[in-house]
Amino acid sequence: MLREIFEQPEAIENIVASGTSRHAGMVGQYMLQDLAGIPVEVDYASEFEYRNPAIGTHEVTIVITQSGETADTMAAQRLARQKGSRTIAISNVVGATIAREADGVLYTNAGNEVSIASTKAFTAQMAVLFLFSAYLGQVRGQLSQAAAKRWIEELLLLPKKAEAVLQSAEACKHLAELFQSAEDFLFVGRAIHYPIAMDGALKLKEVSYVHAEGYPTGETKHGPNALIDENLPVVMIATHDAGDAGSVLRYEKNLAALRGFKKQRAQVIALASEGDQKVGELADHTIFIPQVPELLGPILEIIPLQLFAYYVAVIKGLDVDKPRNLVKSVQE
Ligand code: F6R
Repeated sequence: MLREIFEQPEAIENIVASGTSRHAGMVGQYMLQDLAGIPVEVDYASEFEYRNPAIGTHEVTIVITQSGETADTMAAQRLARQKGSRTIAISNVVGATIAREADGVLYTNAGNEVSIASTKAFTAQMAVLFLFSAYLGQVRGQLSQAAAKRWIEELLLLPKKAEAVLQSAEACKHLAELFQSAEDFLFVGRAIHYPIAMDGALKLKEVSYVHAEGYPTGETKHGPNALIDENLPVVMIATHDAGDAGSVLRYEKNLAALRGFKKQRAQVIALASEGDQKVGELADHTIFIPQVPELLGPILEIIPLQLFAYYVAVIKGLDVDKPRNLVKSVQE
């Protein structure tokens, strides 16, 4: 798992040359809506066939999968096709069933992912979704050629920035040592960062067997706040892009939420943007992420959360690559 976490800068680069899975889709939803102006719905493949999805020839179904063989995802793809929807597979495995059955394929080219917990395939999926969104934005006249070029340039800067984030591995290990006995965690993120909170919690659950929940930051006041005290560490994604008014607004709200968590005596581990001083002063522990436009933030933010889950599992003496009760590709 550690090797694959560290392979991510390369995975992102390879993708740039060409193109997991629901959380990646949730991030992709923001990218597609922002860059291409296309409304997007994200669904669990396992739920898709039970909700009679209202799709047909005018909807494209993007099927995201590392293995390309997940049974629920395959069933969802077949149902979409039956309803007349064209499908695009985003697959890491070349020639996998889902890739073969799709009308079009974007390969993530992240390299073989062996560890059961998906890490580098996930960041690669988000990068592919970003590229696809920028391309669609351009062909649909939503983005000028110059704007699309600037976005791609930002994407090309990510491998170097991911290398910088990987330098936080020691800090993540230290946090894992500090929090190894905690029995529950709450991960929170707002807007495009919420799926990263979800995935950070998922990684911790699956490799460390620690209960963790991912929640939208703003929703905590609608229930989960009752749980938050000194026994429930909160992992908060509180990065921002100072040049983006919407991002600054969300950041101000995050600061207010962070003050509230501290009032309730929670231990807060925060992810903040490099150069930010406010989050560092309020949170108990802060990992800094290089400055990046908000749409690309998730690709960097997941890395310290993967490392944290990895180190908690290692400290607990667990088989981090083969967590109990799980398989790499769920075929039933
Ligand atoms: C989590 C994880 C799983 C897979 C899911 C889909 O770390 O690996 O949640 O993402 O089973 O698998 P693929 O992407 O192969 O369809």
